[in-house]
Amino acid sequence: MNDADYLYLKRRVLALTSIDIDAYKSQQMRRRLGTFLARSPGTNIVSYCRMLENDEDMLKRLQDFLTINVSEFFRDLPQFERLKTSVVPELLRHRASLNVWSAGCSCGAESYSLAMLLEELCPNRPHRILGRDIDEASLVRAQAGGPYGAGELRNVPRRLLRAYFAPSAGGQCVPEGLRRKVEFRRHNLLCDEFEEGFDLIACRNVTIYFTEAAKAGLNRRFHSALREGGVLLVGATEIMLDAAEIGFTRTGPGFYRKLSGAAAAGIPRVSAGFSRRAVGWPAAISQGVLNQRGR
Ligand SMILES: C[S@@+](CC[C@H](N)C(=O)[O-])C[C@H]1O[C@@H](n2cnc3c(N)ncnc32)[C@H](O)[C@@H]1O
Repeated sequence: MNDADYLYLKRRVLALTSIDIDAYKSQQMRRRLGTFLARSPGTNIVSYCRMLENDEDMLKRLQDFLTINVSEFFRDLPQFERLKTSVVPELLRHRASLNVWSAGCSCGAESYSLAMLLEELCPNRPHRILGRDIDEASLVRAQAGGPYGAGELRNVPRRLLRAYFAPSAGGQCVPEGLRRKVEFRRHNLLCDEFEEGFDLIACRNVTIYFTEAAKAGLNRRFHSALREGGVLLVGATEIMLDAAEIGFTRTGPGFYRKLSGAAAAGIPRVSAGFSRRAVGWPAAISQGVLNQRGR
């Protein structure tokens, strides 16, 4: 794709979907888009964009492609194990119920996993759990509670499958009781307002294609959106280089706790002060991950 075509496509996509392609890593995005467009109809970029304007399915396919919305329940079990054994109990020491935001929640698997985890740890408390994503189609599925296929459910312990899911055509669905615990709505992380006062924000596997500048701005906004002591959870391999500078301390793979004002003021404005404490994950965390409380 030449520069003029790429520029034209970026403008049309922004107008039609509010997705700002410039906030995503440009080389990767351009290469991926080139491959995608080679398999799409239209003889040139202008005719392709005209088709996009008149064909909702085509626009949806492009949006799905741009936002890459694969997900699964209890994705990255060690992170959920850490949430269960230390992060959430610590947050609950200060507040009876938590304000949680699953940012870039895709089809709802992450939001419902957090809802199940909270229900297992402290049942029937009025936690507020938000599931937000830019992709409408994913949100429709999230709101409907599925259906979820075997691949998306592979990490769900059998006991939780029995407790929180019901078989339906095409897989398993989350019944109304759990659905009511999560509030799903469309939200674009790159341009919409953020609410504040969160105890926990999970934004995993969302910013991996964002530019460093977009990520840095986002991490600062997440910091403002958290209460003191609140936790930002990103993917275990997503390293926030300016964490200390922003006012976070890294407490485990993907876990960043917002420091109090006083503690943050004492932090040198360089990113070298990470706690690089090794966290020894159990070799195999499998069916037992959330099984300790009997139902
Ligand atoms: C790979 S999924 C991650 C889902 C879940 N967090 C997980 O880790 O399984 C990435 C999600 O980020 C969403 N996303 C991408 N750009 C976004 C943006 N600017 N604002 C909000 N969501 C976005 C996509 O629509 C997609 O559903």
